[in-house]
Amino acid sequence: MLSARLQIFYDRILAGQPLWDIGCDHGYLGLHAHRNGLCGEVHLVDRSPTVLEKLRRQVEVRWPAGPGEGLRIWQLDAEQEALPVVGGTVVMAGLGIGTVLRIMARSFAGKVPAGVRLVLAPTLREELLRLQLRAQGWYLQHEELYSEAGHVRQLQVWETAGESAQPFWNNTTLSRDNGLLDMFLAERRQYFSVSQSAEPDLVYLKRALAECFPE
Ligand SMILES: C[S@@+](CC[C@H](N)C(=O)[O-])C[C@H]1O[C@@H](n2cnc3c(N)ncnc32)[C@H](O)[C@@H]1O
Repeated sequence: MLSARLQIFYDRILAGQPLWDIGCDHGYLGLHAHRNGLCGEVHLVDRSPTVLEKLRRQVEVRWPAGPGEGLRIWQLDAEQEALPVVGGTVVMAGLGIGTVLRIMARSFAGKVPAGVRLVLAPTLREELLRLQLRAQGWYLQHEELYSEAGHVRQLQVWETAGESAQPFWNNTTLSRDNGLLDMFLAERRQYFSVSQSAEPDLVYLKRALAECFPE
């Protein structure tokens, strides 16, 4: 059983295609996908030997006779070493956007690889990530908010082609229904809050972003 947070990432994985979970830590997402046969190839990547030792123990507990074909664990620093990603889903969750962008630069070498879906849940500064990926030629397919440890975070799903989803400030893809949008805007506003403007968060944030990151 996945946590609610991991489940929303899991729901965005392309079935039947390779899955890369970079910065996998506990590896729950990939282990779940492997166990359910969602993806025939599951790659769990982390640079920490301690993390991977724990993960290997998890695998032994879940599959005492071995995990079978299709599960591979990589111990490497993905900012330093390129990964052979050819299509499928690349999940990067719980990483800073600088790390995400450096990992992409290393593995994709500045190109937008065909058939790849990025499922990104960075720790902060999602707006900057959005602008960088748009500039690189990625298309935002989906975004949603979820809560994690008292903060509101944003999931972004990007692909190499397709219709571009509207940014959140147009209210087209992020609804207020789950009650998280106002919290998200208020939290994000704090990063820009030198001004004590009385404008509502949405208006203020949109303007602050446009000023900070002109397109
Ligand atoms: C906060 S955990 C996130 C775990 C999981 N993705 C999640 O969202 O629940 C971040 C993990 O990324 C790994 N990591 C950070 N930078 C990395 C890099 N450059 N290459 C590989 N792993 C990295 C860390 O070792 C850590 O286990």
